[in-house]
Amino acid sequence: MSRRDPHSYADLDQGRVVFVDLDLDLDFATSCIAGRARLELAEPATGPLDLDTRDLEIRAVRAVDGGDLPFTLGPRDSILGAKLTVDLPPATPALVIDFVTSPEASALQWLAPQQTAGGQHPYVFSQCQAIHARSVLPCQDSPLARFRFEARVTVPEGLTVVMAAAPGEARPGDAAGRRTFAFAMPQPIPSYLFALAAGNIVSRDLGPRSRVYTEPEMLDAAAWEFAAVDSMLRAAEDLFGPYLWDRFDFLVMPPSFPYGGMENPRLTFLTPTLLAGDRSLVNVLAHELAHSWTGNLVTNATIDDFWLNEGFTVWAERRILERLAGPEAKALAAAIGRKGLQDAIDQFGAESPFTRLKTDSWGADPDEFYSMVPYEKGFLFVTLLEDAVGRERFDEFLRHYMKTYAFQSITTSEFEEFLGAELPGVADRVRAESWIHGEGLPGNAPVFTSDQLTDLQSLGAAWSDGRRPDPAAVQAWSATEWQVYLQALPRRLSAEDCAWLDATFGLTAQENGEILCNWLVIAVASGHEPAYARAAEFVGQVGRMKYLKPLYTALHGHAATRQLAVDTFAAHAAGYHPIARGGIERILAG
Ligand code: BES
Ligand code: ZN
Repeated sequence: MSRRDPHSYADLDQGRVVFVDLDLDLDFATSCIAGRARLELAEPATGPLDLDTRDLEIRAVRAVDGGDLPFTLGPRDSILGAKLTVDLPPATPALVIDFVTSPEASALQWLAPQQTAGGQHPYVFSQCQAIHARSVLPCQDSPLARFRFEARVTVPEGLTVVMAAAPGEARPGDAAGRRTFAFAMPQPIPSYLFALAAGNIVSRDLGPRSRVYTEPEMLDAAAWEFAAVDSMLRAAEDLFGPYLWDRFDFLVMPPSFPYGGMENPRLTFLTPTLLAGDRSLVNVLAHELAHSWTGNLVTNATIDDFWLNEGFTVWAERRILERLAGPEAKALAAAIGRKGLQDAIDQFGAESPFTRLKTDSWGADPDEFYSMVPYEKGFLFVTLLEDAVGRERFDEFLRHYMKTYAFQSITTSEFEEFLGAELPGVADRVRAESWIHGEGLPGNAPVFTSDQLTDLQSLGAAWSDGRRPDPAAVQAWSATEWQVYLQALPRRLSAEDCAWLDATFGLTAQENGEILCNWLVIAVASGHEPAYARAAEFVGQVGRMKYLKPLYTALHGHAATRQLAVDTFAAHAAGYHPIARGGIERILAG
């Protein structure tokens, strides 16, 4: 069956790139990567081969015997980039492309030394999901295509390169003062999981299969925060079957990393905002680990099936959490997720097609419609299926699902067929059709309860009746409890109420990003002046969109702070990753 991805020019009927051999030379002076990619096809192909590129300069395309191959680079589409068409002579097994990335490459952020923890060395990293791999290398940039690769990456001596791949030897580069790092990715990956970083990076073993990488200044803190990684890995294997990627290492990034985490196989990327000093945010690590099954093994066919990646992964993340921290912890996490879902549905409107699990995003920019819907509506739907058949049967179903589709990409309708065949009648019983293809949140959504959750939510909801938290009891609140409480408060408080909360609990001085962000959104919307400078300071220190978007929205949405939002963005825009910069520009334009 031939399938097309609306976000890729690739046509897999023309040929399938199944192996890439890469040489990348990183130039920090010009913020460019000079690359040579040998693309090997599954079978010899003839005629046009369409590849995705964005802002790539294509210097030459050759056959493996060295002869030049004719190619054309189409016009630049603002979402898709430019189609590179190579005319393959009869029975071509492979082609070689020489290219140079742009300093504006949408996947890459080049950091000056002062933007790193150590302040001495430059740094660069990639973020390829959803459709940014094409700005790093010419490829079939669709999750319908998978390839293995080998890479050699050259950087100035003194820097270390890491990739989402197995590391090989490092050796002196061909030029003086350069060093070349080798990697191999033996498992076939979709392009969005291609990842690299280079900088002053060191590492420490945390278990037989796990190691943390980061700048030396953050190594101790990172090793402490994520000490549980090996127990997470074992819990996950117990739940979902064997871990098929050999190692689970992770890299704690510089602050401008635009996401909480990214499940790059063998080397998850994590925001340093998770280093809260109390292990309260390790669920993000559990989430990225869970993608090793849901997403990286069984992969969404296109962005319109993204819920298959994220919905199952949030569900899996919370199963791991339940194993390690108990059902109360899971109920609180689900409540925080439920709030995120409600906010997303309110923002789109309950009738919006973007509140469906299966979307139809033809012509839309994936970065623009990214939301919590596939995550949290997906989580609720998977939980509903689990509840409908019972945990034992559902876990069996899930392991069978992993085995059946391991290293493949599937569409929502393939999932629906599998569900119908393996768990007959269940789809009808839970009204799967309205969950997957309907808008908003169906009435049979599972509800999580726990005593702790009820207490916190009723305490927050009773704010207007004059109920206040008891400072002595609050001493013992975890970061998660704080989040649940803050999310239960009215969205706007009086100036006196804000001042009381702040004076009693020191919220504006909070270091935990989740607590701080939840608080600042209320405080800014309530006109609590001491929060303005802190909000502006915080969005200047971090690049994680989960914090930037609500805070810029709050600052921009309020007359008193609108100019502050604009000025703060002007001051920090150059320090944001291109994806985050684009996201904030849309907020400030709205
Ligand atoms: N794969 C996503 C991040 C992503 C999604 C990047 C779409 C680009 C496009 C990752 O697994 C993720 O979901 N991260 C969350 C973690 C959270 C849900 C625990 C994040 O970054 O906040
Ligand atoms: Zn995810």
